[in-house]
Amino acid sequence: MSGNINETTVLITGAANGIGWATAQLFAGRGCRVAIVDLDGGMATARAEELGSDHLGVQCDVTVEASVREACAKVLDRFNHCSILVNNAGIGDMTVPTLEQDASRFMTILNTHLTGSFLISREIARRMIADNGGAIVNFSSIAAHSGLPGRNAYGAAKAGLIAMTKSMACEWAGHGVRVNAVAPGYVETELVGKLVAGGLLDKERILRRTPMGRMIAPSEIAEAVWFLASPAASAITGAVLNVDAGWQAYGAAGDAFHPKAI
Ligand SMILES: NC(=O)c1ccc[n+]([C@@H]2O[C@H](COP(=O)([O-])OP(=O)(O)OC[C@H]3O[C@@H](n4cnc5c(N)ncnc54)[C@H](O)[C@@H]3O)[C@@H](O)[C@H]2O)c1
Repeated sequence: MSGNINETTVLITGAANGIGWATAQLFAGRGCRVAIVDLDGGMATARAEELGSDHLGVQCDVTVEASVREACAKVLDRFNHCSILVNNAGIGDMTVPTLEQDASRFMTILNTHLTGSFLISREIARRMIADNGGAIVNFSSIAAHSGLPGRNAYGAAKAGLIAMTKSMACEWAGHGVRVNAVAPGYVETELVGKLVAGGLLDKERILRRTPMGRMIAPSEIAEAVWFLASPAASAITGAVLNVDAGWQAYGAAGDAFHPKAI
């Protein structure tokens, strides 16, 4: 893809909520046509209507091949191209001791993140290759790089996404299709807010472990996605951009956040 990305079409999975919705708002605000593809079809349509008549909401379960094919066909029928794909759809797993983990839940998490990103990428890259270019941004996580005890499937899925990002990047580089990933730290979405409020996530502990001493706003992840999708990143492919307030940089003992550190 070359030139300006305004007025292009971006397909964002899981865009009815959270980081995906923030990303949809940012791209729409900068002149792109946005296809909001989400498991919750009603919400996807409502969100697209909120953005305006240039945008489209489509129901899709990214884990189901037929559903992905149908959703991508709807997007391509409506817009006739798709130069940016953001594979954001995801589900969290709760911390569960490995000896008590359920195999079907394990597979659901792998399928949502890994199989889902694979299936949509395959469908959309077909068109990008025919159109001589495009940009794909996958969603990894800090969970890909260091162990979160009791969250095996999530960490494995997010690490797998990095490997898949690199293999697709190399395979499609000659076709002008760039494939990169963002690796967010703890993002202050509605869902994370509820986990904190319900006592399932210890916000104070997270802040102490984060060098910048704060969580990340969904719009800050959206800005990183915009950068990777834009011509400003024209020589970047197969890369993973940490957007984690310093989380992965920290390797010392104890608290990472020292307000008056020198
Ligand atoms: N929130 C964080 O702190 C954080 C940190 C690191 C990475 N991430 C990653 O960022 C991405 C977005 O996370 P979020 O916090 O905004 O989540 P969220 O729960 O707020 O939104 C996820 C969206 O994905 C959709 N979805 C779920 N399963 C789907 C499926 N099978 N098919 C289609 N859509 C589906 C949901 O309906 C929802 O709209 C995820 O990949 C997540 O793993 C989030």
